[in-house]
Formats: sequence, structure tokens, C-alpha cells
Amino acid sequence: MVATTMPAPGPVTAPVPGPGILDIAPYIGGESKAAGIARPIRLASNESALGPSPKAVAAYRALADNIFRYPEGSAAELREALGRYHGLDPARIVCGSGSDELIGLLLRCYAGPGTEVLYSAHGFLMYPIGAKSVGATPVAVPERDLTHDVDGFLARVNERTRIVFIANPNNPTGTYLPADEVARLHAGLPPHVLLAIDAAYAEFVNRNDYESGIGLVNRADNVVMLRTFSKIYALAGLRLGWAYCPPGVADVLNRVRGPFNVTAPALAAGLAAIDDVAALAQARAHNERWLAWFSDRLTALGLKPTPSVGNFVLPQFPDDPRKNADAAFAFLHARGILTRKMAGYGLPQHLRITIGTGEEMETVAAAIAEFLAAA
Ligand SMILES: Cc1ncc(COP(=O)(O)O)c(C=O)c1O
Repeated sequence: MVATTMPAPGPVTAPVPGPGILDIAPYIGGESKAAGIARPIRLASNESALGPSPKAVAAYRALADNIFRYPEGSAAELREALGRYHGLDPARIVCGSGSDELIGLLLRCYAGPGTEVLYSAHGFLMYPIGAKSVGATPVAVPERDLTHDVDGFLARVNERTRIVFIANPNNPTGTYLPADEVARLHAGLPPHVLLAIDAAYAEFVNRNDYESGIGLVNRADNVVMLRTFSKIYALAGLRLGWAYCPPGVADVLNRVRGPFNVTAPALAAGLAAIDDVAALAQARAHNERWLAWFSDRLTALGLKPTPSVGNFVLPQFPDDPRKNADAAFAFLHARGILTRKMAGYGLPQHLRITIGTGEEMETVAAAIAEFLAAA
């Protein structure tokens, strides 16, 4: 006989997401359009100034007739090329759809409800967003002079801590931790805590005391280094990143990643990009020249940029409402110059400005000078 009574409907009338999901403020990327301006100057997303290697573009195009095929799921050729180039064991490399995917995978595998994930207060937003998305608690560690504070991190580690994320150099501040400070941070972590060193901007750094994290991964079982093709290699649209891991972590990530998580065009372009060492050297030299030039211009204008070693700068604008960061953003925007507001990163007095072409940097420097003079 059919039951005549149905279970009383509970108070829940719609699907309910997991813990933490509704606490997430969605990530807002940099703007790419300015009304009425055909070709805005795009300095809002830390993309490369010079664009990709022509060899990478040719490899991408050459794949057009084959996009009905699945990619090679283990990214073997690319991992081997990365291994040769950086002197690494390819078996310990895991590729992802941008390093964003790898950040998410690390969190999915090693964090969860009841655990904590540490990151710098003015650090990359995907760390707290990703932590919340797996129900973990993100813990923001205050910085010292807009630089990661090793002692601050160590003071906040406890038995619930699972991952410590540092971007080195850091986005959006542009500052970095020297290798001995990263080693000190690692030395203070218990073995159950994973140190994830996100070296998205490593290739831009020109400092003798900097190390991307490879040395530490080689000698510890709880350190991962993340890299990307989105920045100096200028392949952001293709979504390609990689992690260099202890064998155990590589094994874990390979269990959970999608079987075809990196597209065939990304694999082909990435492979060609690694080979084009001349394009890399050119991009590095360009950044070195214009980062110094633009930082000097901002300093001369009284805007106190942080000492950035990445491909972006973070000038601080005055408090005066006619001269503050919001007014500067609007002034530049109206002239088709797109920069990044930093209130979402807890830095409402700053704008982040990516290093573009020489002409773009001269244009934005002149526009900022005009803005300050008019105000
Ligand atoms: C520190 C940091 N990590 C990771 C990423 C994301 O890189 P990808 O494009 O490889 O996902 C960015 C992009 O801005 C970044 O600044």
C-alpha cells in the first residue's frame, strides 16, 4: 500500500552549498574595456608587456586542425621539457589549467572543514577564496612593510593549520622574501603543514638573494612550488601552470586532477615557449628597464611605490579625495588607461599598475603627473 503521509518538508527549500561557499566574495578580475575607447591601455591584470613568443603562437595555430582530439593527459612532453630547462625530475611536476587550478587542488587535497590556511593579509585573493571553497578557515597574517612577515606566520601556526601560502614575489605588493627567510619560515613549520610557494613572477626577479623555491622542494617533503605561463611567457589566455612537488604530493594531485585538465593548445604553446629563451630574455630585460623607470617616475611624483621585483608596481596615493586612488583610477580610466583598484586587497589608497610597453608606461606616467597637477 502506498504511504499516505509524506515526510514533512523541512525548512530547506533549495539546494544548499557546502560550508564556507556563501562567505566567498567572487573574484573580480581586472577590467579589459573602457567605454568609447577602441584600444585601452591594459595595465590591470599583470599580463606580459611584449606578448607571447611567436614560436608559441605558431605552435598554437598549428594545432587548429586537431582540436577534436583529447590532449595527452599526463602532459609528459611538457613536463620533460620543464624538467630539462629547470633541472627537475619530470615525475614530480604536475601541470594544471593555470596555477589557479593547482591552488584549488592543493586546498581540496590537504585542507577542509575544521582546518586553517594561512596567507599574507595583502596576498593573492585566490588563497582565501580557495580555502573557503573547501570549508577551511583562511587566516590572514599581517605584513611588515607590505612584505610577508615570517614571525607573524609562525606565530599563527597550530594543529589545525594545513597549508601556508606565500606568493614570492607577492601580488599585489611586488615585494619578496629572500631565500634565507623562506628557509626560516619552512624550518619553523611542523611537518604536517604544507608550504606552498607561489612563484608566478619568479622570472622577473633580478636579486641575488632570491630563490623560486626549487631548492626547498628538493630537500623537504612538505614544500610545493607553483609556476605559471600566464606572466612572463604571456600565455594567460591558454591557462597553463605547473607545480613542482615532493613525490607524495605529486601522487596526490594526480589522483584528483581532471584527466585532461590542460588543453592541447596550451601544452603545444607552452612547449614552444620554453624553447624560446631569446623571447624570455627580451621580456625580462624589458621589465627590468621599465619597472625601474616607472618606479622612479612615481617616486619623483611623491607616490611611494613599494620596491617591486615583479611586473607591476603599487603606488600609494594621498588621502585627499581629489588626489586619492579612486580619483586617480577614474582619471586614468577616462583616458583609456586601465589599472587595478586595490580595496579588495585591503589597500584602498593604492592602485596596482602592470608594466606595459615603453610607450604605455610613458603615457601612464604623464597622465598621473597631469592628474596630480590638476588636483
Ligand atoms: C601570485 C599569483 N599566483 C597565481 C596567479 C594565477 O596564475 P594563473 O594564470 O596561472 O592561474 C596569479 C595571477 O595573477 C598571481 O598573481
